[in-house]
Amino acid sequence: MLIALCSAKGAPGVTTSGLALALSWPRDVVLAELDPAGGDVLAGYGRAQLSAGGLAELELAARRGGIDGQLDAHLLHLDTTGRARLLPGLSDPATARHVGWERLAAALASVEDGAVDVLADCGRLRAEHFPAAVVRWAAAVVVVTGSTLRAVRAATQAVAELRDEGAGLAPGAGVLAALVVGPGEPYGEREIAEALGVPVLGVLPRDARAAAVLSDGAPAGRLFGQSALLRAARSAAVRLAEFAAAHEVRLTPPPSTSSAPATSAGGRGDR
Ligand SMILES: Nc1ncnc2c1ncn2[C@@H]1O[C@H](COP(=O)(O)OP(=O)(O)OP(=O)(O)O)[C@@H](O)[C@H]1O
Ligand SMILES: [Mg+2]
Repeated sequence: MLIALCSAKGAPGVTTSGLALALSWPRDVVLAELDPAGGDVLAGYGRAQLSAGGLAELELAARRGGIDGQLDAHLLHLDTTGRARLLPGLSDPATARHVGWERLAAALASVEDGAVDVLADCGRLRAEHFPAAVVRWAAAVVVVTGSTLRAVRAATQAVAELRDEGAGLAPGAGVLAALVVGPGEPYGEREIAEALGVPVLGVLPRDARAAAVLSDGAPAGRLFGQSALLRAARSAAVRLAEFAAAHEVRLTPPPSTSSAPATSAGGRGDR
């Protein structure tokens, strides 16, 4: 099951929230850093002590011999449980134009035949080389937003754009939802859901100390797992996984029809 995370504008905390969700995910999960502006996790959470070729090398391997069976070799463990893994993003954003997003999206939508979920950090909507194919293949597309008026406005526009077939993202864009970082500045969950017209599946509080562990590799300390951010991420992860799974079930084609999804520019043919 593939879930796309993206932002409308600014840096509301997509990468940090994606990491918090991945570390809290109720099933095996891969956090895929697909932001065309480049990956942040190796230098941030990984404190530059981890290394892997990640997306750039996966892309090269996929070009040489297809993507099947290649993903595993390009993943890193995010924690000691082995349940959360990372596909590190591009270290050179100039290479984003060469990534075959459609092929990658199709592979990420069915990792280990669906036994592993994928959270894809797609970065900012409208950015050059935005992985629109990933949005088309995703079971759920989550707009990460702050709660200020300008953040909610931008997120509302982003949701409209994700629904607009002319934007090249639809038809077939996964079901839409939102994740709020820093509620009450001044808007709350219900007001934001109403403004956006999509369900808010998670509300992550401002928690600078825990966020710095995730975004910049600050020392975790004993209480990191009990931090407000990680506690909220656990409940958001459960809600989001359930929401995407419920949608995924509805996408299952009837037995008589082909289950092979279209891989052409038309996107998925099963919606
Ligand atoms: N819940 C939070 N509480 C406090 N600070 C946060 C929270 N989430 C993220 N931040 C902080 O906000 C900043 C931006 O976070 P992050 O890099 O995750 O954003 P982004 O949306 O991925 O940005 P970019 O567009 O650069 O990829 C970081 O300094 C991070 O520590
Ligand atoms: Mg980011």
